[in-house]
Amino acid sequence: MSSTATDRVAQLVAHLNKQGALLTDKVCIVTGASSLFGIGRATAYTLAKRLPKVIYVTDLTLDNLDELAKDITSKYPGVQCIARAVDAASTSAVQAIVDEAMQIFGRLDVFVANAGVASGSRLQDEDEESFMRMMRINALSAFLALKIAGAAMQVTGKGGKDRSAGSIIATASVAGIRSGAGSPEYSASKAAVINLCQVGACQFAGTDIRVNAICPGLIETGMTKMTFDYARNKGTAHKIGQLNPTKRYGVAIEIANVIAFLASDEASYLNGQAIAVDGGLSSSLPIVPGRFF
Ligand SMILES: NC(=O)c1ccc[n+]([C@@H]2O[C@H](COP(=O)([O-])OP(=O)(O)OC[C@H]3O[C@@H](n4cnc5c(N)ncnc54)[C@H](O)[C@@H]3O)[C@@H](O)[C@H]2O)c1
Repeated sequence: MSSTATDRVAQLVAHLNKQGALLTDKVCIVTGASSLFGIGRATAYTLAKRLPKVIYVTDLTLDNLDELAKDITSKYPGVQCIARAVDAASTSAVQAIVDEAMQIFGRLDVFVANAGVASGSRLQDEDEESFMRMMRINALSAFLALKIAGAAMQVTGKGGKDRSAGSIIATASVAGIRSGAGSPEYSASKAAVINLCQVGACQFAGTDIRVNAICPGLIETGMTKMTFDYARNKGTAHKIGQLNPTKRYGVAIEIANVIAFLASDEASYLNGQAIAVDGGLSSSLPIVPGRFF
């Protein structure tokens, strides 16, 4: 290890011992944060607990976002939470929010590329248009996060940032790891998100910008509401999530906690990974526990 690397590690260890869990001074952007039971909204709260300087909460419209920003700002004094309407799959919209953060606060440290849509369609019902729409919202949004937020994270000086660094976290899915958890177009878009994060980590080599994908299993949110409502109405809610070893479905804060950890310097050596947060669903071949082992 060169002496430069040794010095950097020594500084890092001192920092981690002092405040690695906190996001002190950091400026964060979260996309897809307006859904009331969504992972984005839960992430805004788990980031807020780590006391960053700023959290931009964004979504296609301002629905629920002003209320969210007010709640966070009042519960966590010192944290500025700002609501903005941003299409996460639009180059100009993502560039504009990143530019705003840079102009006002002089730095960008955390970008959570969480916005996404799903479909429950089968291959025969999908077509070029539906496929490209899914890829645009789910995969292009992750690409823009890497390209635009990554460039801003390298800027130092103004805003008190003394070195290139940052954490980009994209919400992929277990559907991006293997089949059985989503429609063909959804699964393909989430596999693209995972690969973009791996390639992104490589592209930012030596900049201290980390890129990771998080792969939720079945989580009760706005996206899955129909599935949960259907099961509850049919009286089969107790069956939801029974295929994973934790034997239950997950809730948004369980994903958001891992995102906040990835955002923090506590995850300083975690880079280029796709982390499944799925109760163990993706860890096993399909077996009936107790039958053979
Ligand atoms: N809920 C699950 O079981 C589950 C599992 C795996 C992955 N995910 C992923 O988690 C992420 C969050 O989803 P959720 O479960 O909280 O669903 P959700 O529907 O509750 O929230 C998704 C949010 O993304 C927003 N959005 C959609 N397109 C957008 C765009 N172009 N620009 C900005 N915002 C946009 C929606 O308005 C919504 O607020 C998604 O990427 C989803 O694919 C969810």
